[in-house]
Amino acid sequence: MDLAGGLRAVAAALGMRSDVCPVNTEPDNATLLAALGQAALRLRMAPAGVVWRTPAWVERHAGWPDAALHAALQPAWQARGEPGSAGSGSVAAPGGTMVALHWVVLADGLLLHEPAPPPDTALALQRHLRDRERLLFTSRSVSVGEMASTLAHEINQPIGTIANVLRGVGARLARLAVPAHEQAALEDLRHGLKLALDQAQFAGRIVGRIREYTPSRQPRRERLDLRALATECVSLLDWEFARDGVPVQADMPHEAWVEGDALMLQQVIVNLMRNALEAQREAPGPKARVLLRLQRVPGLAGVPDELQLDIVDHGCGLTEDAESRLFVPFESSKPDGMGIGLKICRSFVELHQGRLWFTRHAPPDAGCSFHIALHAAPSPPSAPGRAERAEPREPGPAAA
Ligand SMILES: Nc1ncnc2c1ncn2[C@@H]1O[C@H](COP(=O)(O)OP(=O)(O)O)[C@@H](O)[C@H]1O
Ligand SMILES: [Mg+2]
Repeated sequence: MDLAGGLRAVAAALGMRSDVCPVNTEPDNATLLAALGQAALRLRMAPAGVVWRTPAWVERHAGWPDAALHAALQPAWQARGEPGSAGSGSVAAPGGTMVALHWVVLADGLLLHEPAPPPDTALALQRHLRDRERLLFTSRSVSVGEMASTLAHEINQPIGTIANVLRGVGARLARLAVPAHEQAALEDLRHGLKLALDQAQFAGRIVGRIREYTPSRQPRRERLDLRALATECVSLLDWEFARDGVPVQADMPHEAWVEGDALMLQQVIVNLMRNALEAQREAPGPKARVLLRLQRVPGLAGVPDELQLDIVDHGCGLTEDAESRLFVPFESSKPDGMGIGLKICRSFVELHQGRLWFTRHAPPDAGCSFHIALHAAPSPPSAPGRAERAEPREPGPAAA
């Protein structure tokens, strides 16, 4: 086993994730930062644009926190006549938690490893990963369900037409006066038609069964803070945005209580944010931020206030042609796009009696905005009067 392999084994035996970067000399700050960023990414701790909030990589020898690893490394250092310098710093893990990352300089690389995280950090990280997995899983299964029912609906139409045409042709044949010597050929035709009709009906039954198995899901109705939900979405997507170097800005000053299905609404926000990111990816030039803006829109006489969430990007924008095909299932401008995200988003929002729409930005401002509006709900009893405090000038019934 080479030294890097040996070091990995030591770190693994100590229950640490580790990584070796090819850095040949004692690195300067910038190299170290870059190496830490890449290693953190490989260790799935943080995005590529890793935040290094503590440039104090100061813990040389003294104060080395992982004594066991240090001790294990000593013979290797000695054998290779290396100074054995080491240090540590912090990188931002998903969700903004700071995680310490330790490094050791060797002749042929920089060993990076994490110390065993304190239990609460580990738990938070675990919860975050589990939430992300759950969302991705549900998103996949909802997409598949939605796709299956859309496909079933689309395929059902031509199958019905085929069956009708075949029946019509059969009826026509039955009325044909055919000379005796053509009767055998007619019988062949009838047989062929019957086979075709049987097959069409069989396909129709299969499609019908798919539709039975994918009933449209009704949303739960629980009191939710849209701001908290959107913040969670930002954290779920943080590494994707960071990987593309697109910052997310949140302008969500107040709690925003609505009634709805957390998972469905989360999927809507995640889908729209992902579209915004993908649009920015296609846009030339420096990557502008994606903005999440939450505002309360007062309802007119007797109509509840609305909470409006805007997802604003500065991406490739929408041509008129793209705009007309936005909500058409399976229409995508992306090589690997499914073209059903927006359709799912709109049906989820409409299941909440809400609205989803978009606006194209006027030039020279590139990109577009997608908007969701949902009825505002009263603050929950556990947060008495918070809505009124947040929006003192809005006396609408929903704020009471
Ligand atoms: N923020 C956006 N900016 C520009 N185009 C967008 C944006 N969101 C959606 N689109 C367009 O709408 C199409 C459909 O989006 P969607 O239903 O989410 O499917 P997909 O993302 O799989 O293509 C996309 O392929 C893209 O052309
Ligand atoms: Mg999409």
